[in-house]
Amino acid sequence: MKRHEFFMGGQTILFLLSIVFFLSIPSTAIESINATQSLEDGDTLVSSEGHFELGFFSPGNSRNRYMGIWYKKISSFTVVWVANRNTPLNDSSGMLKFVDHGNLAFINSTNGTIWSSNISRAAINPVAQLLDTGNLVVRAENDNDPENFLWQSFDYPGDSFLPGMKYGISFVTGLNRYLTSWKSPSDPSTGKYTNKLDPNGLPQYFLSQGSVDQFRSGPWNGLRFSGMINLKPNPIYTFEFVFNQEEIYYKYQIANSSVLSRMVLSPDGVLQRFTWIDRTQDWTLYLTANMDNCDRFALCGAHGVCNINNSPACDCLKEFEPKSLEEWTAADWSQGCVRKAPLDCSNGEGFIKYTGIKVPDTRKSWYNKTINLEECEEVCLKNCSCTAYANLDVRDGGSGCVLWFGDLIDIRQYNENGQDIYIRIAASVIDKLVKSRGKKRVRIIVIPVSLVAFSLLALCLFLRFLRKNKQQQLTREGNVVTNPEQDRTKESRNEDLELPLFDLATLTDATNCFSINNKLGQGGFGPVYKGILQDGQEIAVKRLSKRSRQGINEFRNEVVCIAKLQHRNLVKLLGCCIELEERMLIYEYMPNKSLDSFIFDKRRNMLLDWTKRFPIINGIARGLLYLHQDSRLRIIHRDLKASNILLDYEMNPKISDFGMARSFGGDETSANTSRIVGTYGYMSPEYAIDGLFSVKSDVFSFGVLVLEIVSGRKNRGFRHAEHKLNLLGHAWMLHKEGRPLDLIDESIVDTCIISEVLRSIEVALLCVQKSPEDRPKMSNVVLMLSSDIVLPQPKEPGFFTERDLSNDSSSTIKHEISSVNELTSTLLEAR
Ligand SMILES: *[C@@H]1O[C@H](CO)[C@@H](O)[C@H](O)[C@H]1NC(C)=O
Ligand SMILES: *[C@@H]1O[C@H](CO)[C@@H](O)[C@H](O)[C@H]1NC(C)=O
Ligand SMILES: *[C@@H]1O[C@H](CO)[C@@H](O)[C@H](O)[C@H]1NC(C)=O
Ligand SMILES: *[C@@H]1O[C@H](CO)[C@@H](O)[C@H](O)[C@H]1NC(C)=O
Ligand SMILES: *[C@@H]1O[C@H](CO)[C@@H](O)[C@H](O)[C@H]1NC(C)=O
Ligand SMILES: *[C@@H]1O[C@H](CO)[C@@H](O)[C@H](O)[C@H]1NC(C)=O
Ligand SMILES: *[C@@H]1O[C@H](CO)[C@@H](O)[C@H](O)[C@H]1NC(C)=O
Ligand SMILES: *[C@@H]1O[C@H](CO)[C@@H](O)[C@H](O)[C@H]1NC(C)=O
Repeated sequence: MKRHEFFMGGQTILFLLSIVFFLSIPSTAIESINATQSLEDGDTLVSSEGHFELGFFSPGNSRNRYMGIWYKKISSFTVVWVANRNTPLNDSSGMLKFVDHGNLAFINSTNGTIWSSNISRAAINPVAQLLDTGNLVVRAENDNDPENFLWQSFDYPGDSFLPGMKYGISFVTGLNRYLTSWKSPSDPSTGKYTNKLDPNGLPQYFLSQGSVDQFRSGPWNGLRFSGMINLKPNPIYTFEFVFNQEEIYYKYQIANSSVLSRMVLSPDGVLQRFTWIDRTQDWTLYLTANMDNCDRFALCGAHGVCNINNSPACDCLKEFEPKSLEEWTAADWSQGCVRKAPLDCSNGEGFIKYTGIKVPDTRKSWYNKTINLEECEEVCLKNCSCTAYANLDVRDGGSGCVLWFGDLIDIRQYNENGQDIYIRIAASVIDKLVKSRGKKRVRIIVIPVSLVAFSLLALCLFLRFLRKNKQQQLTREGNVVTNPEQDRTKESRNEDLELPLFDLATLTDATNCFSINNKLGQGGFGPVYKGILQDGQEIAVKRLSKRSRQGINEFRNEVVCIAKLQHRNLVKLLGCCIELEERMLIYEYMPNKSLDSFIFDKRRNMLLDWTKRFPIINGIARGLLYLHQDSRLRIIHRDLKASNILLDYEMNPKISDFGMARSFGGDETSANTSRIVGTYGYMSPEYAIDGLFSVKSDVFSFGVLVLEIVSGRKNRGFRHAEHKLNLLGHAWMLHKEGRPLDLIDESIVDTCIISEVLRSIEVALLCVQKSPEDRPKMSNVVLMLSSDIVLPQPKEPGFFTERDLSNDSSSTIKHEISSVNELTSTLLEAR
């Protein structure tokens, strides 16, 4: 059996539509091969329980032949290991067999070696066997001892890290097992990214692009890696980190055999864990290691602290200031911060304690597993180049000692699961702090300013809120901030929402009494204002208009819903305010406003050239994928449009306005509503007409949005001299006439990468197809945008001529209809 598979991007999902099976030669499947047997292209090795299969394949739309291992029992073709990743064979003449006394080799038709296991130890009767863990091993015939394997593929991982693999270094064999990304989904050759254990100082894993570090796991602290707070006990897998004289490795094991789990380093450098539970019939994203901007290595420079909840995210450590104020304020934090008062190693130097921290880079650190925190402080004080110390292990109140020397790099502030660190401060600063506090302690405990403000604020709000709560007979699910300091130290497993409550006075103050000058725009449920908090943080305040029909319970649901979402392509909710009649949501402020203010503006459209637009399209797709599939809540946005895509400092897109979002359960994929909300021009036919919404209605809106981004034209209100079609119809017509490039916004033609533009248009047309079943899921959309797999032909789009439903512009509509008969009249009374 020859297979031409399509191996899907970071998500590795089978694109079912595109599989083509060629049944030519009958295949044979055996469990192992011995010295006299061989495996030809078309034959496979299958593990004893049938979990894994080894054979020859062509990834994506490549015609090259590779020998590899993949999951056998699941429908999605997922390769976990490739032997000859950098030396493909261009035909199917390859063969796997033993050569020179125990070396397993992949040879071509002229007996040239394409790949070989390259073992130095010879074996008399070698056997190659595929184990049920996905490990290909070479062993002596009657020796099943894992310690005696002559060779195993688990020692040479590709882009996938499987259960049971030791991921790290063995000082005995000299092996360093690490992940290397594929070049692309169709090309398994060594890509740009690696994720590798660095044993210098206290060991950490680094995700790097070439020699440039991109993400640091942080050192193991007994519970998890310091910079991977999502790694916690869970029902899917157990994990351990072994760190001794002989080896250092991380390893995990599946806790429930009916679940599959793997970690993969995608061609674009994202390290993710996927799980497969039979019910879902697909890989689902479980965890992303490098999850947000603050995970970018050393984003805030030396002595900078990254806090994803702040805007800007970077801040200096206490008693430090930006090295270059100019660059710092221009959001280039790479130069980091310097001490306000330099260390001079005089008597009286001390430490400031930080809590909730991802500890700095430990490559230049020193550690000792036995000494305690007090001794640790002493050792640090005695050495003038020691700049910080912390516990090595945070379990049971902490033990062991790590010392840092020189600059402190890549620090991050967390709300939960962070750890404590003590940072050295000059004697003069200590004097000042001690005086101002009237205490005679050298070690001073500081919580970052904003947190102090928040917790005080929250505390009084909490009390006030409790009172009000009683009056209103409301039950809320613990969404009030308690003292963050307290929460962190008790290492709470509490999953409850921690959403700050702002009081009305603070917001009135911040927005200049909701001055018209501060108004940023008008959202579906009310106006949005810019505000500046007393600590200088910029915020956006969405004030729900009193006429809004949203009840307090709906409002609360919405708040709960958004607060639990976290993704780099979703706008972040900072808090809310419920006081008197007022209901407000406080978001991070997005300096570059919304996408529509660029693409539809004749003076500003060239500021967003194609090199910015394509990442925006991809970012929106990933944000939507997260909503639909990867977030715990699974959400349909229902009002995706250009004005709801906000842009941050770096023009990263953030989906906003969840006022109409609906959460749906695990199995449920669509629902019916009598209340149609959304925006003309972006609504799918089945939703606008029958009130049926599903993830596919969002896909439709996404398609419209992509066409708008490419063309710089609005779907609604689109005018063309030659026909009466709307933008969808126009794009469809150009596509059918074979001149899709005529759609491109003239102001960006020069910067276009034709292949990307064509792909975007084709994907968009697939998304706006009339029938929801024909439209791809967002996981496929993300894949189709990022790889070069062959796309199916789109069918006719929905709603491509009906341009006269309403003359209203793209304002949001919201109304109720009780039956389809009433549709026409109700659709016309859009607000
Ligand atoms: C290899 O296996 C085949 C089939 O089981 C057997 O006939 C043959 O003798 C074996 N060769 C060796 C060297 O064990
Ligand atoms: C495959 O590669 C060989 C040697 O590199 C070359 O001679 C042959 O023409 C190639 N075949 C195809 C179909 O490209
Ligand atoms: C390859 O090796 C096999 C077995 O050793 C031999 O029979 C065959 O003639 C060789 N083929 C070539 C092209 O050298
Ligand atoms: C077989 O591999 C050898 C060594 O890699 C190479 O020199 C030779 O051209 C290959 N033969 C074919 C037919 O691809
Ligand atoms: C094979 O192993 C030897 C030493 O064990 C090493 O020097 C050589 O580079 C290896 N060759 C390949 C192709 O990996
Ligand atoms: C394993 O997972 C399956 C499917 O999710 C579940 O039905 C079963 O109860 C789990 N078994 C254990 C022991 O957790
Ligand atoms: C750690 O400290 C203890 C006590 O000071 C000492 O006995 C031990 O040798 C140290 N270990 C290392 C590896 O330095
Ligand atoms: C301070 O620590 C550094 C790094 O471990 C070491 O090289 C240096 O000798 C130490 N200095 C003193 C005075 O102990």
